[in-house]
Amino acid sequence: MKALILSGGKGTRLRPLTFTTAKQLLPVANRPIIHYVLQQILEAGIEDIGIIISPETGGKVREAVEGAFSGRARLTFILQQEPLGLAHAVKTVRGFLGQAPFLMFLGDNLIQGGARQLVSELERGESEAVILLKEVPDPRAFGVAVLDGEGKVVKLIEKPKEPPSNLALVGVYAFTPAIHEAISRIKPSWRGELEITDAIQELIHLGGRVKALKLEGWWLDTGKKDDILEANRIVLDEYAERDLQGEVDRESAIVGRVTVGPGSKIVRSTIRGPAVIGRNVLVEDSFIGPFTAIGDGVVLRGVDIEHSVVLEGCHLENVGPVEDSLIGYRARIKRAGGNRRSALRFFIGDECEVTL
Ligand code: DAU
Repeated sequence: MKALILSGGKGTRLRPLTFTTAKQLLPVANRPIIHYVLQQILEAGIEDIGIIISPETGGKVREAVEGAFSGRARLTFILQQEPLGLAHAVKTVRGFLGQAPFLMFLGDNLIQGGARQLVSELERGESEAVILLKEVPDPRAFGVAVLDGEGKVVKLIEKPKEPPSNLALVGVYAFTPAIHEAISRIKPSWRGELEITDAIQELIHLGGRVKALKLEGWWLDTGKKDDILEANRIVLDEYAERDLQGEVDRESAIVGRVTVGPGSKIVRSTIRGPAVIGRNVLVEDSFIGPFTAIGDGVVLRGVDIEHSVVLEGCHLENVGPVEDSLIGYRARIKRAGGNRRSALRFFIGDECEVTL
């Protein structure tokens, strides 16, 4: 069994953040999303992993993944010149996949519990494809499945205006090589992409058996700011640990599950977990509340912040209260004067400068 991670695409939905970063590299609890994907693939017992990359962000994806995983997996990076669809990506890696069954994971999806169940289901040999479905209140932004009374998949539609069910396709799939024949028969959709959803529909049409599993745990399709904040909240809630490697002075209080990375300094401040502070961070005269992730090299002086993500290299001075915010790489925010009682909410792109 092989695995395929889709880490190409343009990621326009997360602009302004993805002007400088691939969305698969945005950190959740200070680790790039794609690290969780790789971790779950390894946990499902697969070590031969192909990674689709784009010309724009491929170099950065490669760098982020190789450092952390090349000793633990056999990684093959494959360039997709243009993001012409998920099924087009599978076509692009046909040589790498050969006749192997494979697990396909969208590089910006996070799921609870991992992908092992899909792999085991495919290995039972009773289906040509296994898909994962999740009930969502509004499935219009997803692929949507219709099941019959016995739970068999009868129909799949990509981003329908009037969804026939509330079962969204999660971005994790397991396929036998039968999917390639189905892909070769489909045409680009209205948005000009070769859709994997259409390919699975075609597979059903060709007589293939498609098994649907339901995901009961959480699923995060990290396409938007609120998804990133929610992913951060859930991951910190489940996995944050108390681990204080930096320096904490006597006038500071660290409460609960808080990680402070090496080289960081906490001065006259309170940090209430779950929270994670990266490496070489300076926190002075500040309050950091729960569900907050502060990236490497950030400087916070006189800041009151919670339920937020501050990416690497930011400087924040005399601002707060800040909540539900996502602050891009190397952004600078400072208050020139005056005070404020109601909370500030930011979604600020990389390298921006804001003076309040
Ligand atoms: O997140 C789940 C949804 O993902 C499913 O419900 C949909 O059926 C499926 O089509 C897909 O929809 P999106 O519109 O959200 O896909 P997106 O364009 O965001 O791409 C998903 C990932 O795949 C993302 O990490 C970028 C990568 N990608 C995308 C395209 C179109 C590629 O590597 N190559 C591509 O050509």
